[in-house]
Amino acid sequence: MFDFHSHILPNVDDGSKNLEESLELLASSFKQNIEAIVATPHFSPEAEDPETFLKRRVEATKKLLTAYDNSVHPKVYLGAEVAYYPGIKCSEKIKALRILGTKHILIELPFYKWSNNMIDEIIEIKKRLGLVPIIAHIERYGIVRHKDILHKLISQGVLIQSNASFFINKRTRRKALKILSLGQIQLLGSDMHNLEQRPQNLKMAEDIIRENLGNSVLKRLRFFGNEVLQGAVPIESALEYSLKGEA
Ligand SMILES: [Fe+2]
Repeated sequence: MFDFHSHILPNVDDGSKNLEESLELLASSFKQNIEAIVATPHFSPEAEDPETFLKRRVEATKKLLTAYDNSVHPKVYLGAEVAYYPGIKCSEKIKALRILGTKHILIELPFYKWSNNMIDEIIEIKKRLGLVPIIAHIERYGIVRHKDILHKLISQGVLIQSNASFFINKRTRRKALKILSLGQIQLLGSDMHNLEQRPQNLKMAEDIIRENLGNSVLKRLRFFGNEVLQGAVPIESALEYSLKGEA
């Protein structure tokens, strides 16, 4: 299982507060057989520019690498959770925020009703910037009630990520399983922030999916995960890769 949404880098956003917590989140993920985790710290264009964000991410990466051990931790890749803003489709600079080594970028949309312009802009990101948008935690928006909009996005190559909690929460489980069985979720994430309130919970979601929909759906998720991570740069090589100016 791959975790496409996490806040595990130390002291870089509202996620892990220090190196110890980051290591515990990684160790607990490893014990749950999570194979790979994409670190997706929050990027807000109102708060900073991509360069400043990347400098902070480099520092957090360096700190994590002082104790990262791939014999007891999952593979880690670097990305960002990019808050949508009008004009994002024209912003060359956000290319640096993709999952390092890939063409995929995790985007968080506003929680109010999406306009048609906004939906078109997400689709345009692919055409204009050559990036494949992944919509973060789809269950957080009213959009899950609008299968036609989801269909439009997916048919244009946009990928949909949902959090494990969508499946774990008994009030939303049926909906989550329905959407997944329709093929309208391609990637899962824990969106873990800390050990207490928002820990690693993907294994729980995986068990629920297997029990209700069988292994073939998990295999499909794995297929999409592998596609997205093709060429992704592991954290051990990330700093070197960035120095080459490719990020
Ligand atoms: Fe998040």
